[in-house]
Amino acid sequence: MGNRFRIAINTGGGDAPGLNAVIYAVTMAAHGRGWEVHGIQQGYAGLYDTSKIVPLTPDKVAGIVSRGGTILGTTNKGDPFRRPYPRSDGTIEYRDDSTKLVENFKRLGFDVMVALGGDGSLSLAHKLSQKGMDFIGVPKTIDNDLVSTQTFGFDTAVSTATECIDKLHSTAAAHERVMVVEVMGRYAGWIALHSGVAGDADVILIPEIPFDMEKVCRRLGENEIGGKRYGIVVVAEGAKVDGGFVTKANEDVGRSEVMLGGVADWVAKEIHRRTGKETRSLVLGHLQRGGSPTTWDRLLSLRFGAAAVRFIAEGKRNVMVAWQPPDMKAVPLADVIGRTKTVPTDSDTIQTCRDLGISFGD
Ligand code: F6P
Repeated sequence: MGNRFRIAINTGGGDAPGLNAVIYAVTMAAHGRGWEVHGIQQGYAGLYDTSKIVPLTPDKVAGIVSRGGTILGTTNKGDPFRRPYPRSDGTIEYRDDSTKLVENFKRLGFDVMVALGGDGSLSLAHKLSQKGMDFIGVPKTIDNDLVSTQTFGFDTAVSTATECIDKLHSTAAAHERVMVVEVMGRYAGWIALHSGVAGDADVILIPEIPFDMEKVCRRLGENEIGGKRYGIVVVAEGAKVDGGFVTKANEDVGRSEVMLGGVADWVAKEIHRRTGKETRSLVLGHLQRGGSPTTWDRLLSLRFGAAAVRFIAEGKRNVMVAWQPPDMKAVPLADVIGRTKTVPTDSDTIQTCRDLGISFGD
């Protein structure tokens, strides 16, 4: 008989389809070993307020594998090293409450925290691990920008974006317009690249490849010459204009990340100005994070969750579960955080696009 562990699990940062499937797998695999699992709601909030801790048992997680979102709730304003406290004059004071969090975790008798997150959440996990808390990280983000692994949520986001791009063809053709569609992905172009090629775009603009509007317009002009009187441009939210990101005002208290957005509108206006062609822009936004996970993401999530529990049983700590086909591997959190997996510009998918006549504006 091995150790009987008491596990905590939380979800941090932007939600991604597949979170519930991981929660399900961790709960089922842990219960199968006679362990306890407790869900910490709203990131780390439950470790400050115990009313936000929910015991997870097989009956509580029944039927959640196919559900989007997260039954535990999530936040990207939950940094325990920088918690916001409003002052009476309306300003905000930030305090480091991380020591209290680690003390509470131990006082509550937890052995390991399974943290489902992207780079921000896993970086927090790493910092907390240095204060004595044990973690297993699970790589979540639709952006697919974590090194050493594919992340869950990405496949669903790409499928949704592709379906939307498919629908744009008919309306663009009917009006002989150029449609410019902005997709998520932060500083990596994975969603734009994969949905753009699958959705038969003419132009794909990604952060990894600086673009020239003259070349973008020239490529769209080739459509006209060939008799295709419309165009589809897929642009990643992190594609740079004049070397800089297009951002929105960040009004969320306690959030340190910049908010990207608006590049599609800029590109559409520029195409219209340069070519006279009617253009429209749209931002797919959070549609890409919503809905049921694809079969692929469900399977990946279930495998991540089960592997997290196996790693705990094997005594592994402060590692991230990484999918390195065909296996799940344990990679130290320290080797993953603070790095961004961007699209290699010489990759086969990039080459495929070029062979198909898709322009990157370079
Ligand atoms: O990291 C996931 C992500 O969806 C990014 O693609 C996007 O830039 C960001 O989160 C949006 O964050 P929010 O939901 O806080 O607006």
